[in-house]
Amino acid sequence: MVLQKYENSLSNGNILYFASLYPLHMQLFKKRVALQQTLLNSSGTIGFVPTMGALHAGHTSLIQKATHENNLVVVSIFVNPTQFDQATDLQKYPQQLAQDLHIIEKINPQTLVFAPSIEEIYGDQVSSDNYFFDGLDQKMEGASRKGHFQGVATVVERLFRIVQPNTAYFGEKDFQQLLIIKKIVAQANLSIRVIGCPIVREEDGLAMSSRNQRLTSAQRAKASVLYKALCQAKEIFQNQNLHQANEYVSNLFELDPHMELDYFAICNEQTLTLAEDIKQQKIRAFIAVKLGDIRLIDNLAF
Ligand code: PAF
Repeated sequence: MVLQKYENSLSNGNILYFASLYPLHMQLFKKRVALQQTLLNSSGTIGFVPTMGALHAGHTSLIQKATHENNLVVVSIFVNPTQFDQATDLQKYPQQLAQDLHIIEKINPQTLVFAPSIEEIYGDQVSSDNYFFDGLDQKMEGASRKGHFQGVATVVERLFRIVQPNTAYFGEKDFQQLLIIKKIVAQANLSIRVIGCPIVREEDGLAMSSRNQRLTSAQRAKASVLYKALCQAKEIFQNQNLHQANEYVSNLFELDPHMELDYFAICNEQTLTLAEDIKQQKIRAFIAVKLGDIRLIDNLAF
């Protein structure tokens, strides 16, 4: 009933007060002008958590950190079409705005939620801007999902310019995305602190992701293999060598016809170039696996 009330209120007005059982202050904005007006009238630091919704414990850890460290928190919920290279992946991306609002409300009822339409962000031209990331956007996720990081960069820069936060919070599960967002901030000379936050995991090690919702129970039972492979590879890397760690992971996935290893890469954490030397500082391993049509990613510092 509460959710129904809320969904109805979505259809009109720029600022929406979230209908709730409790007397709360949470405000939902669809229009950037209304959000900016409210931000102009407030004082103190702004912490920003950009999301595509379908919130899970990974997101809530970011909202909690932002709440702890700032006077005001803005959470955006926007499924960004330009970062999807597969139309079906975009169509199937879970959307649950009313449920997300409940989750945010419980953490911090003063949060300003920005859930714009596609038109509000892109006008009538739904396409990415051009960014140069010196190859960082061509590796791993960039190689597997054409145009993905151009789309991410476009929406994140637009959101940053609208919200103008002091600090923005991102999960380290999308570690490559985090590096790219730091580059956007440097290139556009924005005075925003970008903070990477630790991956939140299920009990069996599976990294929290909105896409996990789409796993069948059989796929879910297998999905923790990404984390297990990373942990085992780390041990092999430390006790034997990089070559044997790579071999272990590729053999592991060759045995299972229901999982397809997209990549496993042990990289320099700053440049994402393949690590060659065990003594190299700051090494991290990255993995992407397909279970049916669902692609999962994970990473681990070595
Ligand atoms: O990580 C995500 O959820 C998205 O890529 C982001 C950063 C919100 C941009 O759409």
